[in-house]
Parts: sequence; C-alpha cells; structure tokens
Amino acid sequence: MEEKVLILDFGGQYDQLIARRVRECAVYCEVMPWQTSLKEIEAFRPAAIIFTGGPHSVYAPGAPDVDPGVFALGVPILGICYGCQLLAARLGGEVSPARESTAREYGKTETAFSLDCPLFRGLPEKSVTWMSHGDFISRLPASFRAAARSEVCPTAAICDEVRRFYGVQFHPEVRHTEYGTAILRNFLYEICGFHGAWTMGSYRERAVKELREKIGGGRVLLALSGGVDSSVCAALLAEAVEAQLTCVFVDHGLLRKNEGDEVASAFAGRGAKFVRVNAEERFLKKLSRVQQPESKRKRIGEEFIRVFEEESQKLGRMDYLAQGTIYPDVIESGLGSSAVIKSHHNVGGLPDTVDFREIVEPLRLLFKDEVRQLGRELGLPESLVSRQPFPGPGLAIRVIGPVTKEKLETLREADAIFREELEKAGLGASTAQYFAVLTNLRSVGVMGDGRSYDRAVALRAVETEDFMTADWARLPYEVLDRVSVRIVNEVSGVNRVLYDITSKPPATVEYE
Ligand code: XMP
Repeated sequence: MEEKVLILDFGGQYDQLIARRVRECAVYCEVMPWQTSLKEIEAFRPAAIIFTGGPHSVYAPGAPDVDPGVFALGVPILGICYGCQLLAARLGGEVSPARESTAREYGKTETAFSLDCPLFRGLPEKSVTWMSHGDFISRLPASFRAAARSEVCPTAAICDEVRRFYGVQFHPEVRHTEYGTAILRNFLYEICGFHGAWTMGSYRERAVKELREKIGGGRVLLALSGGVDSSVCAALLAEAVEAQLTCVFVDHGLLRKNEGDEVASAFAGRGAKFVRVNAEERFLKKLSRVQQPESKRKRIGEEFIRVFEEESQKLGRMDYLAQGTIYPDVIESGLGSSAVIKSHHNVGGLPDTVDFREIVEPLRLLFKDEVRQLGRELGLPESLVSRQPFPGPGLAIRVIGPVTKEKLETLREADAIFREELEKAGLGASTAQYFAVLTNLRSVGVMGDGRSYDRAVALRAVETEDFMTADWARLPYEVLDRVSVRIVNEVSGVNRVLYDITSKPPATVEYE
C-alpha cells in the first residue's frame, strides 16, 4: 500500500502543522474536511489516518463527527485532542467536561508516558506537552488502555495496540511539545511501518509525468510573478511541456522597487516564451477608493485573470492557465473546517467564470519548504529559490486603506531602504520576511523649523519556519535606527517609523 496519510480536519487551529510535520517525516499526506464521505476516503486509499483537534465538544449538537466505517478500514488511526476524544467516544468510551482545576488544561504540561506503548518508544518517562482542552476522556473504550497521564488528566494518551488506534490529548505537532516530532515519527514508522519515501526527487518525476498526461498537446499560459512559487512552477512546467509554455508576467504596478525589471531580466531569454504586460493603470483603477482588504484581494485576483484571458486571446487560444498556488494557500482559503483567515488571491479570489479549459496548479499540494527544495531539484539558482515571499496582491495589501500611485511610490522607497539596510547588516538570510507597510496614520512631527503632519511607516520583520506561526525578528537597534533615520530623511511624506513587535498569532504577517 502506498505510504500516504489522510488528515481528517475537525477545525483545529494547528491542522496545517500536523500535515507539515508528517511531510517532514518524509511521508505524503493530505488534509480533508471531516465531512468527507467514506467513499471519498476509500478512494484516497490512506495507509493511516490522523484526526485533528477542533474547538468543539464531542457531544455538542452538530459537532464534527466521523463515519464509523473509518474504524473498519483496518488502517492505523491517531487522534489528536478533539480527535482523541472522538475516537474514545465513538468506540464506546466516555468524554466529560472537565470542571475548573480537575482535568482541564491549557499550555505547557508535564506529562508521564508509558514507554511500553509504541507511540512513546524511546522517549524519556516524563516531558512537556502542549495541552489545550476543556473535555477529557473519563472512561476508556473496551480494549483501550491509558498510555500517558498528566497531574490532572489520567488519559493524556490512549491506545489499542491490536487495532493500532492511538490517541493523544496533547498536540504533538506544536513545537512546545518537547518530543512531538518523535511521537509522530513513532506513529508513522513504528506503528504504520512506513519508510519515508516522499522526497522532492520522486515528486518531480511524478509531477512531470502527470503534467504531460494532463496537458497532452495543449498550450499553457503561466502566471509568472517572479516569486518562488511561480518560478518553480515555471521550471516544472518547462521540464514537462517547454515548447507549449508561455509565461506571462503581469506588472500590476504593485511590485517592489525595480522588481518588474528584475523579473523580466531573469526570465527573458530562457527556453519558454516570456511576455511582460504593463497593467499598472487598470489595476489602480480597479483599486480606486477600495478600503477593505478582502475586497482588494478579490479585485486584484479577478483583474489578474482578466489580463491573462486577454493575453491568451492575443497569443491565440490557450488551453490551460497555470498558477503557483501552494498548499497553505489552499488550506487557509477554507478547504477544511478551520476558519477562513484570508482568501489568498490565487485561490479564493478566482472569478466564477474562467475562460480556459482548466487551471493547472502543480504545486497545490506542497508546502513552501518543499517548493524551494523542488526548485533546487530543478536547478533554479539559490537567489531565486530562497527569495523571501511576496504576496500576489503585492504592495496593495501593504498600503492600509485605499491605494494610490503616490502612496505606492512612498511605500516603495521606504521598503527599499529597509530591505537594503537589513541586507547590508547581513541579516537578510536569517530573517524569513521583512518589508515596510504604509499605515493610514498621520501624525504631527517637527522637520527643520516647521511642523509636519505626515504618514507613519511600519516595519515588519519576522522569523518563521512555515509562515503559519511567526515571531517578530529581534533586529539590532542600530539597524532599526539607520533605517528610521534614512526613511524620514529620504522619503517625502513620512515623518514617523514604527517597528512591529507582534507575533503570529495573534497578528498575521501581512497587515491586510
Ligand atoms: P499572513 O499575512 O497570512 O501571511 O500571515 C503568511 C505568508 O503568506 C504571504 N501572503 C500571501 N501570498 N497571496 C500570496 O501569494 C496572498 O494573497 C498572500 N497573503 C499573504 C505573506 O507574505 C506571508 O509570507
């Protein structure tokens, strides 16, 4: 049986992290919503299933549930938090609300493990786990035993080794759980017997073959932004169907300083056909007086598609539209039952009618680090592969409120100074993402002998592994000082510079 894991999403906030951790163990997995029918689950042919956490109580009316047929598939199951409670409740156990100070837990919790349970093989007897639950398993189903306990919760893990059903009340996918990855590895390697065959080398081969089968002799139009995702997408498609590929780079006027020219020079002169479209004016018109972030994203996404449709008509009929959508975009746009955070323009903003036979998204199931790895595999230069991410809607979501050409110009200059100074200080490679934001705050200042009433620029720099959670970067004061002095002196219309010290969550990386 192919080594692949189905992650059934019960709406927990860490669901993507579970998928990432599984992939980090070199095992392929996909996230599907809990409503997925048994038939669809069977069609996926999972070799193991993970139930995620979720905010509900298993007995609440309408609470996410699972088809009992899942327990008869004969594959190992790991339930996490809500998933663990659901497993217990559906197999004949009992879940009860924990009253204050009984078995309710939130945060880092010392947990003792039964080391004879295969899930915890090789771990120390006690270590810290991350708990976040209001209910707990008050009675075990027949054939299960408790395999971990904390001070207040006697059922911090449960197992039925014969059926290979396991459950943990804590979150192994969160870094705060000291041996979380080891526990997931034990599940995948010891219990499921996987070997870890998922690599970008094997993905490349499979993807090229599938792309050739799907596209046949059809012509493909690729939306190239010059970012990591679309560049890797271009390289992959070029490997599969170079002669049929045209890369269209839409300069929507929302790019960073000099970026348009850089992208053009990086891709012009390569194998596939390259077309640059200067569309600043029409995008600015579409964004005129638009205030709401979601509305900006939708309009930009829609305009992108319109431009591509027009280009494709000019180029002669194109059959496929290729996009560099990646897995976090798909999940965050509401694939599962987790709340929609932002609709990424690649996914949520697609208009209903698209004038192509089909959309091709060959990176749709990959996480960012996998995309970079694939890029290296395809021989793209490191400068392109390790480039910091830049959102599709560009600077439009870094200008708070309505976007104008003049505001974009101001932001572009401030952003260029920030990036230049950070890179000069040797911090570029160690800072995952860094950029400036033009806020809608105006404040009083003194410039020379006069009073100013100008804009405030916010600087954002984050450290993160996966962009799903992020910490603000502890940049040296001297660097921040240089940036601030330069921005206020060199960028007209700005008299104040702020440094953002919020992590994600609760904030997001971008402002809109
Ligand atoms: P957030 O703001 O959601 O950002 O914490 C996480 C990462 O995603 C990037 N981002 C986007 N990328 N289209 C994209 O291609 C978008 O609409 C979009 N919004 C955010 C963001 O720059 C960060 O790296």
